[in-house]
Amino acid sequence: MYESMFGNTRRIAEAIADGIRLQRPVSLIPVGQADRLPADVDALIIGAPTHAHGLSRPESRAEAVVWAGNEQKHLKLDDAWSDSGVREWLADGSPRSAGWSAPSRRRRSAAPRTPSRSSPRTRA
Ligand SMILES: Cc1cc2nc3c(=O)[nH]c(=O)nc-3n(C[C@H](O)[C@H](O)[C@H](O)COP(=O)(O)O)c2cc1C
Repeated sequence: MYESMFGNTRRIAEAIADGIRLQRPVSLIPVGQADRLPADVDALIIGAPTHAHGLSRPESRAEAVVWAGNEQKHLKLDDAWSDSGVREWLADGSPRSAGWSAPSRRRRSAAPRTPSRSSPRTRA
């Protein structure tokens, strides 16, 4: 699943999918069409462009649209761009396929407990 404003992340996602397809069936889904995932997902790879050192936001995507309108930047909006990105997709959190929910909802497991150092020792 990928997000892409200008097509760079899409091209990388396509190359990754081409590689995986040599071994296993693979679906390539733009984030704007990822409301529901196939029910039989074994692994999910997510790709998104860096916007202001992180995932895109509505404001940064709007800026990308402005950049694409500037002839001097030689940028073109990708057919698959959408006004909702991976940040929103992860935050949404609703289960999108049977038995799978977005990682943002999962809790980190607690650190394993180690034996207490203060437990009294007995001497022979
Ligand atoms: C608003 C905006 C902010 C960006 N901020 C960063 C950034 O902080 N760091 C970076 O390396 N690239 C940044 N970029 C560049 C994009 O990550 C880069 O153009 C990327 O290849 C775009 O991928 P896409 O074609 O799939 O949208 C920014 C691009 C835009 C439009």
